[in-house]
Amino acid sequence: MNNAIARTTALLSTCALLLTGCGGGGGNTPVTSSPTNSSSTPSNTATDTTATTGTVSGAIPIGIAVAQTSNVALLGQEEVAGAKLAEKYFNSKGGVNGTPIKLVFQDTSGDEAGAINAFQTLINKDKVIGIVGPTLSQQAFSADPIAERAKVPIIGPSNTAKGIPEIGDYVARVSAPVSVVAPNSVKAALKQNPQLKKVAVFFAQNDAFSKSETEIFQQTVKDQGLEVITVQKFQTSDTDFQSQATNAINLKPDLIIISGLAADGGNLVRQLRELGYKGLIVGGNGLNTSNLLPVCKALCDGVLIAQAYSPEHPGEVNAAFRKAYTDEYKKEPPQFSAQAFTAVQVYVEALQALDKKSKVNKLQLPELRTELNKQILAGTYNTPLGEIGFTPIGEVVQKDFYVAQIKMEKDGSKGKFTFLK
Ligand code: ALA
Repeated sequence: MNNAIARTTALLSTCALLLTGCGGGGGNTPVTSSPTNSSSTPSNTATDTTATTGTVSGAIPIGIAVAQTSNVALLGQEEVAGAKLAEKYFNSKGGVNGTPIKLVFQDTSGDEAGAINAFQTLINKDKVIGIVGPTLSQQAFSADPIAERAKVPIIGPSNTAKGIPEIGDYVARVSAPVSVVAPNSVKAALKQNPQLKKVAVFFAQNDAFSKSETEIFQQTVKDQGLEVITVQKFQTSDTDFQSQATNAINLKPDLIIISGLAADGGNLVRQLRELGYKGLIVGGNGLNTSNLLPVCKALCDGVLIAQAYSPEHPGEVNAAFRKAYTDEYKKEPPQFSAQAFTAVQVYVEALQALDKKSKVNKLQLPELRTELNKQILAGTYNTPLGEIGFTPIGEVVQKDFYVAQIKMEKDGSKGKFTFLK
């Protein structure tokens, strides 16, 4: 396909998914962050929660600071969906010992400034008891220190780079790190092609998570006795990968591994195939969304992606989450939604436990935030991701991981993630 047409097609597909992100910017303007936050998307946005008393009165406000606009919303919109389902589910079960929770959404958009603004608004204006967010590790390294200084608990729903829990005492995550998740997909590729030897690695050099993930991928390749024949760099804002793709293909790799985000990752997959690459492709965690499928369409077929969630996971809470998700979205729930649901669940169950010891609505907000943070780390939680807990520094302890392979219909109109046995 002609490059310009291909790029436009991909961007239009992305814009079609990101109705809010591409409006007014002109047809070919790359979608970047908006500098302002909005408590827009969900209808249950709070404005009147903790007021001035210093205690929580009424519904308990939990901040959700994820990307609702920009290309990062390809991941963030799945987090909004998961969080909203959790709010509905846990409130229907009585919330926090009879008191409902109320999610307060602030759009981080896709960059650091957006995440910082969203965090500050949630902490100082909305007076939330804790925050789920942000979407990217790149944003977390800038925004989480603000919450740390304000002593506000953070649960990262999808921050998988090395070093996130180490940001501070108030920072935990439910998203297993790249070191635990990424090696699984390389092993799956080897299982599908035991002859493979030569590996080309691509990563987005302007993204903290992608840099962290590629280190793990490259180490795994060596540990498996394979050879890294080239490392190609790009930017998450790139749409044209012709030169890097050609460089790699000329070296005749048997496997290509990509660490990037959804729009760039999808375009790179598509261009590798258009340039004739026929071998296996492993995509990292930033490509783990069905929002990738309209970008590379039929050419997404066969991409292997490790998973920290399976819709088949047994247990009551996953069954309820899966049903609620499939009823609403007519497809299986994705990992980013399951992780956001789980992050809200951790808040609810930690609040329930804390409330039994000292009434949540009697604690002054600073004390509530501090006690809640301790309680989060002390608990174990039976979630859609399976049973999870935390190390003393807030790293998630999770047992089950999977690998899925994208299966597309021939015409590229539809596709899904098929879990490998
Ligand atoms: N897992 C990706 C990150 O940490 C989204 O940035």
